[in-house]
Amino acid sequence: MTHLTLNSGASLPSLGMGTYKLDGAACARAVAEALELGYTHFDTAAMYGNETAVGRGLAEAKAPREKLFVTTKVWRDSLRRGAALKSCEASLKNLKLEYLDLLLIHWPNADVPLGETLGAFAELLDAGKIRHAGVSNFTVSRLKEALALNACPIACNQIEYHIHLNQEPLRAFCAERGVALVAYSPLGKGRWRDDELAARIGAAHGKSAAQVALRWLVQKGIGAIPKAGRREHLAANLDVFDWSLTDEELRRLDTEPRRERLIDWDVAAFEE
Ligand SMILES: NC(=O)c1ccc[n+]([C@@H]2O[C@H](COP(=O)([O-])OP(=O)(O)OC[C@H]3O[C@@H](n4cnc5c(N)ncnc54)[C@H](OP(=O)(O)O)[C@@H]3O)[C@@H](O)[C@H]2O)c1
Repeated sequence: MTHLTLNSGASLPSLGMGTYKLDGAACARAVAEALELGYTHFDTAAMYGNETAVGRGLAEAKAPREKLFVTTKVWRDSLRRGAALKSCEASLKNLKLEYLDLLLIHWPNADVPLGETLGAFAELLDAGKIRHAGVSNFTVSRLKEALALNACPIACNQIEYHIHLNQEPLRAFCAERGVALVAYSPLGKGRWRDDELAARIGAAHGKSAAQVALRWLVQKGIGAIPKAGRREHLAANLDVFDWSLTDEELRRLDTEPRRERLIDWDVAAFEE
């Protein structure tokens, strides 16, 4: 496993487990299985309604807290100071944790001043309730605005990024400003398991198209949080660290002409 270094100096495992659409006993079991397999980085959100199940899975596996990196998110209707603080408290209670490793603004909301939410996140940092603050679905201009406010350090931007949505300008901007980039829907919601180019490249390495899609991100220094409910998928997704794509394979994937944004919502005002 490789790690990204956050602007605090802390480490974020490059590969984590996404949990959207997992719920109840199946979610708790998948989280516990992931821990057994070696995952330590988990991604959830208040909006997913599964924090309690994720927390149950984490507790079942009895992993030492300091070995875990748990991210959750505040939904866009809770970005006022009071609501954001409450959302964080509820997440902590649901997850049965004393602190969160990373709390993100899930989606921007132009009706709430960004400084108000980031100010609330700064309070949570000071109180030790969260170790890092970050954003999600932020474009370059919104991220610039967030950084310029200087309200609290922004450790991470979590965005849709995969072999058919190579957001190079946003990647470069994050790298320049020391904001870790984490890719959601890294497998195109499962679609890239059948991707022709990735499958062809994978065949040369004895790997699947899905593993190529993840390796491409990891090799670019981008974190990835594939969701997998099945144990074989959880295990396969961890197997992206002891082999490499060649420069030519990276270039071929970098220049894939298809652009598919799978999650588009006008509140984000995507620029690309
Ligand atoms: N910040 C945001 O706004 C945002 C938005 C979307 C997602 N996210 C986060 O990112 C996570 C991942 O994104 P996602 O859930 O949209 O999609 P994804 O991870 O791109 O794809 C998940 C799908 O891929 C399948 N899969 C997993 N590993 C596989 C493998 N090795 N081979 C073949 N198929 C495989 C899964 O099947 P099984 O489940 O059957 O194993 C599932 O159907 C989410 O769960 C969530 O935590 C965040």
